Amino acid sequence: MTYRIAPSILSANFARLGEEVDNVLASGADIVHFDVMDNHYVPNLTIGPLVCEALKKHGVTAPIDVHLMVKPVDRIIPDFAKAGATYITFHPEASEHVDRTIGLIRECGCKPGLVFNPATPLDVLEYTLDKLDMVLLMSVNPGFGGQKFIPYVLDKARKVRRMIEERGLKVSLEIDGGVGPTNIADVARAGVDTFVAGSAVFGKRNEADPNRYDTIIGEMRAELAKV
Ligand code: DX5
Ligand code: ZN
Repeated sequence: MTYRIAPSILSANFARLGEEVDNVLASGADIVHFDVMDNHYVPNLTIGPLVCEALKKHGVTAPIDVHLMVKPVDRIIPDFAKAGATYITFHPEASEHVDRTIGLIRECGCKPGLVFNPATPLDVLEYTLDKLDMVLLMSVNPGFGGQKFIPYVLDKARKVRRMIEERGLKVSLEIDGGVGPTNIADVARAGVDTFVAGSAVFGKRNEADPNRYDTIIGEMRAELAKV
């Protein structure tokens, strides 16, 4: 299994965002997790396509994993595609027409994914899994960084991994919320391959060089190596 670490820029220093993204990627991260919140679907407000475009223009070449916590979803998808998004994931309950939204993301040239809140059942996967590049399981309720990992989501992860294997698909399984060095190995054992970590990474700069995050990313990789 190839594991990918996806720092959530929600916990980065927004006043120096380009630099923060460069630093975290230079420190060994694989993907940029980009949390989009609208103060409607979730009770917080963050960043949109202009910021995604600014990161691309700044020179970011790593995949950008846009996590839409917005409702409605469709209007903003082409804008994120133009802004350079790689993955676009959305919550099925935020779209009236889940199949159409998945198709729209694909038509725009991006990789579609579905996101499930901790208590949201997985039933739509029965009809959509083969059309997706990513399934994202929320291990906190969406809206804020720095919350506690909800352990029952591990059962859900095992279930999704089984579905992916039974169907012989190559869908990526990502988890988001409360992940850090103390639980990343357990999460990996449940079948997750892509790990979002916001506060765990950006809250732990290297002691010798506060512009680097090698120590914390190295700790997470060392835990993954034990799996
Ligand atoms: C929460 C966001 C997460 C958040 C994770 O709604 O989707 O990506 O940044 O933050 P941590 O890793 O601090 O729980
Ligand atoms: Zn997220």
